[in-house]
Amino acid sequence: MTAPLVDLSIHHQPKGLSDRVAFGFTKLLRFCADTFFAKRYGHRAVVLETVAAVPGMVGATINHLSCLRRMCDDKGWIKTLMDEAENERMHLMTFIEISKPTLFERFVIVSVQWVFYLFFFALYLVSSKTAHRVVGYFEEEAVISYTHYLAEIDEGRSPNVAAPEIAKRYWGLPDEATLRDVVLVVRADEAHHRDVNHGYANELGGLPIQAVAPCPPHAALEPTWKAAA
Ligand SMILES: [Fe+2]
Ligand SMILES: [Fe+2]
Repeated sequence: MTAPLVDLSIHHQPKGLSDRVAFGFTKLLRFCADTFFAKRYGHRAVVLETVAAVPGMVGATINHLSCLRRMCDDKGWIKTLMDEAENERMHLMTFIEISKPTLFERFVIVSVQWVFYLFFFALYLVSSKTAHRVVGYFEEEAVISYTHYLAEIDEGRSPNVAAPEIAKRYWGLPDEATLRDVVLVVRADEAHHRDVNHGYANELGGLPIQAVAPCPPHAALEPTWKAAA
């Protein structure tokens, strides 16, 4: 299969206080993640994907409620953000097949979810522009981390195991697909989220909107009542 191309050079240069806060916050969390996980990329993916799936759902909820109150159109934001949350959850469901979190990591996941959900919800209410910029920067870091993960695989430090079944179904990967193929499509997803969220922050800040990296095709998730029919 042809690997999805990702422009690794994309970086939104912080402009103004809101961007600087978003960028500083992201770099602080990056430092914490690098210290905690070092080169354990599988574990890093599992823990961080449990966090990455939060902002889309928060943004979707707040925009949904706001559109109901104002009785206005959402310009497709709600569906886009819910798709992002689902996509991040599928990253989690994929990497959980590769690395199982330790007991301590499970504790971190539960504690961080409380703090991060409440923090991000409050941030989105105060400044949705800053909140989308934070996600844009998180996704820039995700693209970098998955690029490092690819290098680990290519240089033989992480085994290039067979792709999990769930990943083959979701991204429509061939039977012989490997972890490397999975990391490539996940990275392309992250580049898409990066551009969408920087685009939303730009739109809210009155800045021009840049091109958005295409995301790889995803299979629609079938509800169990349909699958059983
Ligand atoms: Fe992700
Ligand atoms: Fe992401």
